[in-house]
Amino acid sequence: MPKIVVEAQVVDNVDIGTQVKELVLYAPEIAAQAVPGQFLHVRVASATYHPLLRRPLSISNVDADVGTVSTIYRIVGQGTTCLSTLNKNNIVDCMGPLGNGFTIQGQRPLLIGGGMGLAPLIFLAGVLCPRPIEVLMGGRTEKEMFWASIFKHMCQNLHITTDDGTLGSRGVTLDLLPELLQTGKFDMIYTCGPHVMMDGVARLAKEYNIPCQVSLEEYMACGVGGCLSCTCATNDGSRKKVCTDGPVFWAKEVVSC
Ligand SMILES: Cc1cc2nc3c(=O)[nH]c(=O)nc-3n(C[C@H](O)[C@H](O)[C@H](O)COP(=O)(O)OP(=O)(O)OC[C@H]3O[C@@H](n4cnc5c(N)ncnc54)[C@H](O)[C@@H]3O)c2cc1C
Ligand code: FES
Repeated sequence: MPKIVVEAQVVDNVDIGTQVKELVLYAPEIAAQAVPGQFLHVRVASATYHPLLRRPLSISNVDADVGTVSTIYRIVGQGTTCLSTLNKNNIVDCMGPLGNGFTIQGQRPLLIGGGMGLAPLIFLAGVLCPRPIEVLMGGRTEKEMFWASIFKHMCQNLHITTDDGTLGSRGVTLDLLPELLQTGKFDMIYTCGPHVMMDGVARLAKEYNIPCQVSLEEYMACGVGGCLSCTCATNDGSRKKVCTDGPVFWAKEVVSC
């Protein structure tokens, strides 16, 4: 699939949580091709070279009819701060859709996300519908769990954990996961979030013999396989590029458990 670089028009760039925004771009060429799990590589500053490198952001939604792609991002540093200042009708240089997406399979999928890792799972949940999807999500506190209002209309069951117990069960996703897997109803697991969470999910998926895909995050420069800045170790001893071989991998390829 050819990589597309477009001058995308900002349709919206709005707050949806504390230091979290949703950016909607008009990019019909990208919207027509994107599949869940792929990402955009965005040049956040159009007028200057600071920062020079593009920033990778998962595609959280697509409306191919309207021609828009969305991403949900947390403001963490220079690049995302720059992004947060974009206004409606501004133009942003955007490359995409990049990477390999999730494999759509199974009839009873369980989606497990932590923090910003929930962003790509929204697009995935939309494509998996009308299957009966269940979502397990975790965050630090209720204030961070604006995700619940997004997912609740898309899934049959929503399971929530927060570190402080202000919403859902107190604890982390991995505390609740064994109970869910013991029901025996899931035939596919998709996960994205902190490494420690995905390692634990992969371990439990293996224990319960359920296929599992993980979406990895690594620092990226080129985003198209040329610079090797994003490689990760695999279980056969080789290294793979997260930008082009991933970011979605089968857990058994990249997680040792
Ligand atoms: C394939 C992929 C998809 C991503 N999808 C999203 C998304 O949907 N929403 C979102 O908010 N973020 C996502 N990220 C992370 C996002 O790219 C970084 O947060 C962003 O590049 C930070 O840029 P910055 O200039 O604001 O921060 P910087 O100044 O570069 O860094 C600020 C802080 O963020 C951390 N950070 C920077 N880059 C990464 C990274 N790649 N992975 C983990 N931590 C990082 C740094 O360690 C530092 O603590 C994704 C990353 C990848 C590789
Ligand atoms: S970011 Fe350059 S090879 Fe992956």
